[in-house]
Amino acid sequence: MLEKIQQLTEEAVAAIEQAASSTDLDLLKAKYLGKKSEILAALKSLKDLSPEEKPKVGQLVNQAKIKITNSLSERRAVLQKASQKATISKEKIDVTLPARGPRLGKHHPITLVLEEVKKIFKEMGYVVAEGPDIESEYNNFEALNIPSFHPSRDMHDTFYLKSGDLLRTHTSPVQIRYMKKNKPPFAIIAPGRVYRRDADVTHSAVFHQVEGLLVDKKVTFADLKGTLSYFLHQFFGKNRRVRFRPSYFPFTEPSAEVDVECIMCSGKGCRVCKESGWLEILGAGMVDPNVFKAVGYDPEKYLGFAFGVGIERLAMLKYGIDDIRLFFENRINFLEQF
Ligand code: FA5
Repeated sequence: MLEKIQQLTEEAVAAIEQAASSTDLDLLKAKYLGKKSEILAALKSLKDLSPEEKPKVGQLVNQAKIKITNSLSERRAVLQKASQKATISKEKIDVTLPARGPRLGKHHPITLVLEEVKKIFKEMGYVVAEGPDIESEYNNFEALNIPSFHPSRDMHDTFYLKSGDLLRTHTSPVQIRYMKKNKPPFAIIAPGRVYRRDADVTHSAVFHQVEGLLVDKKVTFADLKGTLSYFLHQFFGKNRRVRFRPSYFPFTEPSAEVDVECIMCSGKGCRVCKESGWLEILGAGMVDPNVFKAVGYDPEKYLGFAFGVGIERLAMLKYGIDDIRLFFENRINFLEQF
């Protein structure tokens, strides 16, 4: 019996020293000191031993229990330390590594162009006015001398709302809003988003215009031409060719459109300028007397000029962009160039 206990103790200590985890230690504890262990069985059998054997076996069993318990806790401590060390080295942070810098945002090219256009006109004394994106049919069409039967409504493929209002097709209704509330003389620009059912390389369903309106007692077409020429030279530089072309708008008479030489092909003709060598950027003209009547101005007393510039077109020509849709796709590598 004594020998057996001795042997079991040595076997237990050896196994504990080899244990690789705390689960292994729990199993060994159960095996050598648990209720069903042989050491505990020896303790239970003390009663059957002779009086001489009892103290010897009892003492050896107690020593065995202490020895195994001690080696269990020693091994547990060793394993715990090793696992702590492994965790620390795994989670180690190298604080000397350089940090990733924040990515700086940039202004969208449309914002850059809008700001530049505003700056040029503000320097000429123009004041910025605003109007809503959702407009009444009256302000967008009727008051601008475009009655419902008028064929020019077809040119504005309009998004109508259930309420009967619409998404403004141009910034010209801001003219109506401003004139109803203010008396001449004044010179305003009205930048904003406009909407049309229109889409190809130079047309977008949502785009931006800057409206201009100057009303005073003595205004001529030469003033309009001078103002727009000055603006275009400021914006594109003196070398870019521009041309004024007679045109038609119901709310201006006479009317003109302005084209800028296509930057993509230097006027030779390409898909952007539809082989014409020119890209139309704005419509303009002298305010039609009917528009003055609609806002309660006396057309005998006042004269004015108005214009509407396409901001995406200006941006395409300024930065050499051959597809208007790039402005709305929000690709970082495109936007980062500006
Ligand atoms: C107008 O919108 C008139 N309201 C301009 C005007 C104002 C004329 C005041 C007279 C007096 P038009 O539809 O031509 O006109 O548009 C003006 C400019 O907006 C165009 O020259 C072009 O540069 C731009 N544009 C028109 N449609 C689109 C579109 N779908 N996508 C991008 N730009 C466009």
